[in-house]
Amino acid sequence: MNVLLTGGAGYIGTHTCVELINAGHTAVIADNFSNSSPKAVERVEKITNTKIPVYNIDVCDRESVEKLFSENKIDAVIHFAGLKAVGESCEIPLAYYRNNLDSTLTLLEVMKNHGVHNFVFSSSATVYGIPEKVPLVETMPTGCTNPYGWTKLMNEQILTDAAKADSRLSVVLLRYFNPIGAHESGMIGENPNGIPNNLMPYITQVAAGRLECLGVFGNDYPTHDGTGVRDYIHVVDLAKGHVKAIDYADSHKGTEIFNLGTGTGYSVLDIVNAFMKANDLEIPYKIKQRRPGDIAECYADPTKAKEILGWQAEKTLEDMCRDSWNWQSKNINGYE
Ligand code: NAD
Ligand code: UD1
Repeated sequence: MNVLLTGGAGYIGTHTCVELINAGHTAVIADNFSNSSPKAVERVEKITNTKIPVYNIDVCDRESVEKLFSENKIDAVIHFAGLKAVGESCEIPLAYYRNNLDSTLTLLEVMKNHGVHNFVFSSSATVYGIPEKVPLVETMPTGCTNPYGWTKLMNEQILTDAAKADSRLSVVLLRYFNPIGAHESGMIGENPNGIPNNLMPYITQVAAGRLECLGVFGNDYPTHDGTGVRDYIHVVDLAKGHVKAIDYADSHKGTEIFNLGTGTGYSVLDIVNAFMKANDLEIPYKIKQRRPGDIAECYADPTKAKEILGWQAEKTLEDMCRDSWNWQSKNINGYE
């Protein structure tokens, strides 16, 4: 299939592009580079030895998206493009709603004009809100605590309604847990702007000497060591889930939701210790106050993805820690 990856220059998009090409598909990227670098796509081209058409466009801009669809025969769309910082979404909620919702509406309308019916969406485990229990199953209640999360849940609703109204449409909603790690080549990886909000990029920047000390947000949670537990998944495993998802979309109609996680929860200190062991490095850390909005535990029940998509995560925590550091140590300042 020829797959359009919106946000294809970003962290998950670049890794997915590699796996799609490895699986025999072709890719077209649309990205406005608001949170990424054209260099990331050049690296994907190197890894895959393939030239990838890139459109530097805002996917909310209908005319540009129309032009892309007129110039390329697209079989499926994976919609990664979006703003994703939880804290920022509370400060500038309208920018988040505009960007994250308008992009989906524009894509759906243009796809309809061009007879394209397969849509895979980057959702998030954040739509489970404050979980009543773990592991999280796709049928459990949803609810959000911040505008970013609401954009994910609203997008899920928009896409579900669109598929109900158009029997040709196939929608796969992928709820990602916590992607970390990088391609084994160390050529592509996560490249956050400014001081990272997320745990693994913070750790790798401490290891690289760019930051002094990791703050561990709370050690009084009801978990095995008191620190927050999450379902960390290697980004390459996550990327492979998208290859399964487009195949599924191509042979089924309607909407289906899948958790993409490993099913195993690790605490912040588990991650710090695993990182130090895998890379033979010291990571200085200090226990700090809980971060507002954080939950104690969040991990997936990934059974549905295994049974229906035939997908499961294969890489270990050691792989994730080694590959995160391999990327960071080879690219101390990211793509710059
Ligand atoms: P990323 O920021 O690295 O990639 C997103 C890309 O979209 C960037 O390259 C950015 O420039 C582009 N973009 C944003 N708005 C655009 C627009 N209007 N038009 C064109 N391009 C635009 O983020 P990521 O980590 O690769 O995440 C991809 C998707 O997965 C996002 O939708 C994110 O919300 C979702 N997600 C990410 C995580 C995570 O931990 N990384 C977890 C759950 C869900
Ligand atoms: C965060 C977002 C979530 C988003 C996900 C992926 C919040 C509240 N949630 O999830 O919506 O989908 O990122 O982008 O922002 N931690 C530290 N020190 C740090 C950073 C993190 O101790 O410097 C801890 C956190 O308290 C948490 C764990 O590490 O227990 C993971 O944090 P993080 O990587 O930010 O992911 P989430 O909070 O799960």
